[in-house]
Amino acid sequence: MRFKKLSQMNKKILVIPGDGIGSEVTKWGKRVLEVIAENSGHHFQFEEALMGHAAIEATGSPLPDETLAKAKNSDAILFGAIGHAKYDNDPTLKVRPEQGLLKIRKELGLYANLRPVKVFDELLSASSIKPEILSGADILFFRELTGDVYFGEKKRGDDGSWASDLMIYHQYEVERIARKAFQAAMTRRKKLCSVDKANVLEASRLWRKTVQEVAKDFPEVETEYMFIDNAAMQLIKDPRRFDVVLTGNLFGDILTDEASQISGSMGMLASASVGDHIGFYEPIHGAAHDIAGKGIANPLASILSAALLVDITFGFKEISERIIKSVEKVLKQGYRTMDIADKHIENRFVLGTDGMGEKVIECLNV
Ligand code: IPM
Ligand code: MG
Repeated sequence: MRFKKLSQMNKKILVIPGDGIGSEVTKWGKRVLEVIAENSGHHFQFEEALMGHAAIEATGSPLPDETLAKAKNSDAILFGAIGHAKYDNDPTLKVRPEQGLLKIRKELGLYANLRPVKVFDELLSASSIKPEILSGADILFFRELTGDVYFGEKKRGDDGSWASDLMIYHQYEVERIARKAFQAAMTRRKKLCSVDKANVLEASRLWRKTVQEVAKDFPEVETEYMFIDNAAMQLIKDPRRFDVVLTGNLFGDILTDEASQISGSMGMLASASVGDHIGFYEPIHGAAHDIAGKGIANPLASILSAALLVDITFGFKEISERIIKSVEKVLKQGYRTMDIADKHIENRFVLGTDGMGEKVIECLNV
């Protein structure tokens, strides 16, 4: 189907496949963007670049200058995954794939990481949580992405016997993401839960005070404050109680992995990292080296990342919804990748990465 004609846009999209299953899944996020361009008359110009372990192997750096320059020159970035097992069990290695991702987030000022968690009805039984607890859950996480212990000063004692990472937040860092989160809450169910550890941490007390100040500008939003330990429990106990969840970098990292179980699988969750200019879109799953190269990875998180990209960076809400609907349709038809197939799914419905990608494209073209 041809999409409703909007005024034609020329956009530059940088594709960074990264490591592990990254290239297998971004192939399909990119393909979806190509189909959209073909059907809508927009012009997307694609480039490709290296990051992570793949970049270390080729250039010695996890984020080569060339990649950063291309990134700064693009409108949006579609990213795959990062990491390699060889680094995970060797903490002595100084150059690490993840440094590439952290640096690009900082360099591009991507301070707000949006992670929507929705349960597709068809996947209710794929989660380890009971369907009656999950059904209807719809949460939008705002994870702060360029501060916290991730970027605070790191120290290691001269004799190697101690180490520290500084948890630091500045008021302006909390304020700018809080504003974005409240604005999003206004377009949803007007509920926001800010998650911190203000009973113990000074950085969290600043966080809470700043969010309370911002909340005054959004009197219609019902705001609650929750400690991270309680939030981790409530999320599994009653996910439907949450609408927008606002939290810091480390707590957000952990909570959103937990929340992936609400959508059935890590393979389903997409994310958008935004600041003031360029948007960066990626699945929340990792490089999954154990299944890399086997053609069985789930491409849906990359496809859903492409949906976020066209919505948030390009403003094509309708097209984005069509992509999501196509994913829904394929799931309704019964097709699954291995990670989301429960034991009742017949073998002929279990598809590989390309099989699943092709099904979504078919639906998008109908
Ligand atoms: C994520 C990842 C990254 C993070 C890693 C790969 C550095 O877990 O995007 O959630 O911790 O932010
Ligand atoms: Mg993570």
